[in-house]
Amino acid sequence: MKVTIVGAGNVGATCADVIAYRGIASEVVLLDIKEGFAEGKAMDISQCTANTGFNTRVSGVTNDYSKTANSDVVVITSGIPRKPGMTREELIGINAGIVKGVAENLLKHSPNAIMVVVSNPMDTMTYLALKATGLPKNRIIGMGGALDSSRFKYYLSKALDKPINDVSAMVIGGHGDTTMIPLTRLASYNGIPVSEFLSQEQLDKVAADTMVGGATLTGLLGTSAWYAPGASVAYLVDSILNDQKKMIACSVMLEGEYGLNDICIGVPCIIGNNGIEEILTINLDEKEKALLAKSADAVRAMNGDLKT
Ligand code: NAI
Repeated sequence: MKVTIVGAGNVGATCADVIAYRGIASEVVLLDIKEGFAEGKAMDISQCTANTGFNTRVSGVTNDYSKTANSDVVVITSGIPRKPGMTREELIGINAGIVKGVAENLLKHSPNAIMVVVSNPMDTMTYLALKATGLPKNRIIGMGGALDSSRFKYYLSKALDKPINDVSAMVIGGHGDTTMIPLTRLASYNGIPVSEFLSQEQLDKVAADTMVGGATLTGLLGTSAWYAPGASVAYLVDSILNDQKKMIACSVMLEGEYGLNDICIGVPCIIGNNGIEEILTINLDEKEKALLAKSADAVRAMNGDLKT
């Protein structure tokens, strides 16, 4: 199983490292525009082998898409990351040009691949990739919900003071500080609603912390985060390549689900060999429905910026 990751920066290289470490794929190709950069990252990751024992072949190339041929999954993390004080939305102009060109180049050499879009603003970049390539909607998956949900679980586990693996929770909606929707009503601790343990005030704080989770890290690190984003992409790639049929919130083209059309936004999906195997429609309460409608309006406004 072969995975290509375009963009050997913080998120792309971390994703390659996690895929290799966990033996998720037999081959990973890192591609970057910066001369020698992907080669260096691949060499560094490969030199872990003696001490970690993984067998994944990791290689790096500068802009040579022929080396990415016949990938099963292609991941787009190329673009510029958000700087402190910069919104994801401001990234749109620069990253749109990059994502469109990269998506087209990838498909020339891997016409059957499932494409995972990571570059921000991710929902709009997923929409753009879909429109630019004309791929069927099951083959283009935007990664954001996996990361936002893992941050939501992190803050819930801290508030509960219980291990994160016993926490089940999901974030839907747009992948943005003001557009994501942590579903506190449906979050549980080993099947027990978290509202049994946490007050509404505590739950509101968890949701608020989750929503600024990325910005908090950007403030601390001086650039956007990479460990959790890279691991979240690897988690998604694992479910695709190994047909795990995991339920993961992903940005996907909606055609009537949740009353929305012609928009890519985060909803629960079953992820397997065919990419998006199924979009799950869950019953949202009135407040959640209103939040999703508002989130969709914001994502649509950004999609509109693509044409200008
Ligand atoms: P980074 O700057 O460390 O890496 C980006 C890499 O892309 C650089 O090495 C750059 O040389 C390369 N690149 C730029 N244009 C290229 C092109 N045309 N072809 C090939 N490579 C090209 O940035 P980082 O932190 O890895 O973030 C990457 C993207 O992912 C950003 O847009 C960031 O906002 C986004 N992101 C998305 C997340 C999500 O949950 N969807 C989470 C974290 C980051």
